[in-house]
Amino acid sequence: MNFSDNVLAWFTQQGRKHFPWQQNKTPYRVWISEIMLQQTQVTTVIPFYLRFMESFPTITDLANADEDLVLHHWTGLGYYARARNLHKAAKIIRDDYHGNFPEDIDQVIALPGIGRSTAGAILSLALEQHHPILDGNVKRVLARHFMVPGYPASSAFDKQLWLLSEKLTPQLGVANFNQAMMDLGATVCTRGKPKCSDCPLKVDCQAFYHEKQSQFPAKKPKKEKPEKKTIMVMFTNEDSVFMYKRPPSGIWGGLWSFYEIDQVQQLAKLSVDLGFAIVNQQPLKEFRHTFSHFHLDITPLVVEINPNCTIINDNDQQLWYHLEHGANIGLAASSKTLLALLSKN
Ligand code: ADE
Ligand code: SF4
Repeated sequence: MNFSDNVLAWFTQQGRKHFPWQQNKTPYRVWISEIMLQQTQVTTVIPFYLRFMESFPTITDLANADEDLVLHHWTGLGYYARARNLHKAAKIIRDDYHGNFPEDIDQVIALPGIGRSTAGAILSLALEQHHPILDGNVKRVLARHFMVPGYPASSAFDKQLWLLSEKLTPQLGVANFNQAMMDLGATVCTRGKPKCSDCPLKVDCQAFYHEKQSQFPAKKPKKEKPEKKTIMVMFTNEDSVFMYKRPPSGIWGGLWSFYEIDQVQQLAKLSVDLGFAIVNQQPLKEFRHTFSHFHLDITPLVVEINPNCTIINDNDQQLWYHLEHGANIGLAASSKTLLALLSKN
């Protein structure tokens, strides 16, 4: 059996055929269900769908309703742009198509909130028009079955999957085939642990054969984080080290830290500004602290100062942190690492 025969045979035996939108199928009824199902589980959708169709039995009823009432029917489904787009599209259909859902795929795609896959799903499921679909579930099934490299939303990957979907979509039974592909992705070829033993495609699924299901579709590569560098100066005086409180905004806002310089040449000026006379200075091994948006490579610089010039006393913004006794202050993550380095010396 070829791909689509396998899928169709599975649908006959196992397919879900009793959802409300699968009864009295019209483009309108299928449209509403497809939009609701886009980001929401089937079991959640059912009661919302039934209430929606009871209140807005025709496209014209929907178009003539207050937007507030439409949104009210969406309360609990989330992603409210979906409801606003439905309402906008209904008005267009009322005004431009006499309230009849357009049957030309390009006209359907032109409606707000309907992309190529949703348009294909509506026209194939409701009218048996021959269109391929490619929602997230179908992408996963095809990417695994054919071990398609690349990741969703990259144009090369999507293009190849659209070609595969076009090629595999049968002339006969397109509604059942498309519904079966969505069901397979939702119930068998699931993201976490696909139930390959129950899958009609396991006979020639590449990812199953090579046991690489978890590698398809590939994840979008993470953007490289930029790398920044800084030198953190630890002025030491006998058993204490000099710290300052960072400004309330920015990284480590309001936490206690060490003065920073970009280049070691700036140490002289910083010392003069603080009134410190340098006795000795010693860089320690650089370490990395990673934030959500960048890496910070920190070079610790231990600077021993002449104890006679510790003219700064503790205040709100500056203090001498006693290495043995510590202090009840909020420390920046980097400060903890740096203080641990000093205790080890
Ligand atoms: N997700 C989106 N459309 C669907 C459908 N028709 N059946 C099951 N899951 C879906
Ligand atoms: Fe997905 Fe497994 Fe079926 Fe392949 S055999 S399509 S990986 S469920």
